[in-house]
Amino acid sequence: MKTLKALLAFGILSITGIKAQSEIKIQVEEDAPIISKHIYGHFSEHLGRCIYDGFYVGENSDIPNKDGVRTDIIEALKAIEIPNLRWPGGCFADTYHWKDGIGPKKERPTIVNQWWGGVTEDNSFGTHDFLNLCEALGAEPYLAANVGSGTVKEFTDWIQYVNHDGESPMAKLRRENGREKPWGVKYWGVGNEMWGCGGNMTPEHYANLYRQYATFMSSWSNDKGIYRIASGANVDDYHWTEVLMRDIPKHLVEGVALHSYSVIDWNNKSSATDFSEEEYFLTMREALKMDELVTKHTAIMDKYDPDRKIDLVVDEWGGWYDVEEGTNPGFLYQQNTMRDAMIAGATLNIFNNHSERVKMANLAQTVNVLQAVILTNEKKMLLTPTYYVMKMYTVHHDAQLLPISFESPKYKVDGKSLPAISASASKDSNNTVHVSLVNIDAHKTNTVTVNMNGLNIKNVSATILSSEKLQDHNTFEEPNKVQSREFKDFKLKKGMLSVDLPPFSVVVIEGK
Ligand code: AHR
Repeated sequence: MKTLKALLAFGILSITGIKAQSEIKIQVEEDAPIISKHIYGHFSEHLGRCIYDGFYVGENSDIPNKDGVRTDIIEALKAIEIPNLRWPGGCFADTYHWKDGIGPKKERPTIVNQWWGGVTEDNSFGTHDFLNLCEALGAEPYLAANVGSGTVKEFTDWIQYVNHDGESPMAKLRRENGREKPWGVKYWGVGNEMWGCGGNMTPEHYANLYRQYATFMSSWSNDKGIYRIASGANVDDYHWTEVLMRDIPKHLVEGVALHSYSVIDWNNKSSATDFSEEEYFLTMREALKMDELVTKHTAIMDKYDPDRKIDLVVDEWGGWYDVEEGTNPGFLYQQNTMRDAMIAGATLNIFNNHSERVKMANLAQTVNVLQAVILTNEKKMLLTPTYYVMKMYTVHHDAQLLPISFESPKYKVDGKSLPAISASASKDSNNTVHVSLVNIDAHKTNTVTVNMNGLNIKNVSATILSSEKLQDHNTFEEPNKVQSREFKDFKLKKGMLSVDLPPFSVVVIEGK
């Protein structure tokens, strides 16, 4: 009896098949938050082959390009409706002096990338290149500015250079460099990881420094709508968030950041492709912690900002493994498998479900670095499993959250367990409902029932990302091995949609 009760507690028990089903209940709340499209942002650092030999191949390359940026990358990112792109770091940001990256390319000084492989860069990709790229993508630029080794003057000059429409020394310099109209950059990071590579500061010291920088970034009333993002906590450093929220006046900050990577062990990150089920389980355990992190950082923010004027900006997240054999350890080049698709699907569901406070996030990093959506090899380019998740989830961009509740079955390995199912739902401006479902279980098909009663759904269609093996990935020899496709393994009966989710799969349902 006890067992029966337990089974009933997490869903519906089919006596014949002894198949446990989770029922996902969808609530329609008029005042539920909008899922900001900026949750689906990306990050591109001067690191390894992300910018140079990734995005940027130079104007003289025989790879098709627009002002030196690969056109195949531009098209691929437009197809996932990339909403914003963070640049130039990461740790690189607090070593970067933007004036080195403007003017005639041949005259630009070089810079040694001290954090990432110690390579010398020629600054041929600079402010104009990046902001023009964002224009081509239709994405909002997010500039992470140098606080650690910069000055207030250098920072505010950058803002004036890219944003000032009238007469000013920096606007004049911009025009001399060929750009008449300002770009109007809204999103500004005030340093990066100030507790580490940004200057090894205490939160108290950074909060004071932040106040100083933020003061000069805007007018009295911030009438130009500059969005200032304070460098945030590392993972579960709740004290960092507490001090920033306590010490920074609300009128000086629009977003507080958070960084968290899914890493098994920083000293033994293990292979991106050749991993055991136990390693998969541990990676997913780290990825799913994002829910607790966001909940706890939000609780601190709620204490100081109950009206939710300040956003949580998770501007670095994703899986981090050992680099691919034979590549520069400082370049963080890793392959991307179905495990990464699981991280992406589950993490984006977490962000959607916390969209009352999480308004922006940036997957690390777009091309050839960490959990990239695109990998390149000379002329070749491939789209990773993570790319397909981003593509499937575009339906949630700026849609209204539909809060859900359900009990997940467990995914068990060696006596340890994790919730197998993750989900989120939204309704777009055409009243179309989308439900994204992830089954992380490495072996079991899990059946979920989505209760669609009250949503007036007549037609349902779906897309799936799945593959034979967890380790499956796209290669330059076989670039289309893992791809999203149409999915039909569901039944709609009397408003109840029953979906069979294969092991390690992502399914996005559309109901109209
Ligand atoms: O994304 C790689 C690095 O991870 C970034 O430069 C830094 O901010 C973080 O530690």
